[in-house]
Amino acid sequence: MGEVDPAFFQDPEHRPRIVFTEAERIPLIDLSPILSSGNVSAVEGLVSEIRKACKEWGFFQVINHGVPLEKRQRIEAAARKFFAQSLEDKRKVRRNEKEVLGYYETEHTKNVRDWKEVFDFTIEEPTFVPASHEPDDKEVTEWINQWPEYPPEIREACQEYAQEMVKLAYKSMELVAQSLGLPADSFRGFFKDQTSFIRLNHYPPCPDPELALGVGRHKDGGALTILAQDDVGGLEVKRKTDGEWVRVKPTPNAYIINVGDIVQVWSNDEYESVEHRAMVNSERERFSIPFFFNPAHYTMVKPLEELTNEQNPAKYWAYNWGKFITNRKRSNFQKLNVENIQI
Ligand code: SIN
Ligand code: FE2
Repeated sequence: MGEVDPAFFQDPEHRPRIVFTEAERIPLIDLSPILSSGNVSAVEGLVSEIRKACKEWGFFQVINHGVPLEKRQRIEAAARKFFAQSLEDKRKVRRNEKEVLGYYETEHTKNVRDWKEVFDFTIEEPTFVPASHEPDDKEVTEWINQWPEYPPEIREACQEYAQEMVKLAYKSMELVAQSLGLPADSFRGFFKDQTSFIRLNHYPPCPDPELALGVGRHKDGGALTILAQDDVGGLEVKRKTDGEWVRVKPTPNAYIINVGDIVQVWSNDEYESVEHRAMVNSERERFSIPFFFNPAHYTMVKPLEELTNEQNPAKYWAYNWGKFITNRKRSNFQKLNVENIQI
């Protein structure tokens, strides 16, 4: 192990605490009532748990979510094999400026280098669309995928997993809508030509885990993020009540869901997108897989009319999601990521 390059050093006030108080569990929510088309009061209970979690944490974990474990294991195994290759081999699918996704070994959050390497891909057709939703002729896919030769099963593993994430994301978005007092399908139309994507994160062991972070503090810019973290753990969430960083203890086969900036805007600040970061350690490498549930490029993001009125006027101007995310990706690429948000 060599020395850590100062490009990775966090400013002193943002360095992680290596000795942290006992890991706290963010709310753990059992989704079985919606899977078993269950009784109304169980679903109502679920909706109020989601509301409480979104208000208090901006984060919750779900179990009994319906995602088959073998699909998760398959993508995790493929990620492990991919990242174990030489840098030269991984760079064959290096992400480039022309909207082509793939491998990248340098990511910056707020101008500090993150101790990680990533592989990004977007969802290829056919995209899962709920039965009640009319599919469009064309899918808008501005991002283009590249697939490595090794491991050969990676593309299929990634795409099958992506379909599961889309299903879970639609279900979660319905619950979030209900928890805001809206009809379940209120947000569905925004995701018809969705720009969702998945990131495989690999955090190698770090010789100086007290100076660097796997991912620096940031908020997610999209609608929802669904994260699979492995048993090593390292995700920390900023607790709203006191600003303390709280470690999210890994729960086997659970997914961690957080609301991003788009939900904050749609809900006119009823729910807030909360800062989080990922720690590294000197002993074990860590893997995580976030799914970013994002609307169509042409979406104008603004507070929902149903959630605003004279007493509670809109707090945000409308903005175009496609322009926002395209600029974000380019500025990440150019290492100019100085804002508060990481896609
Ligand atoms: C992220 O928020 O970008 C990743 C978090 C994690 O790896 O736990
Ligand atoms: Fe994030």
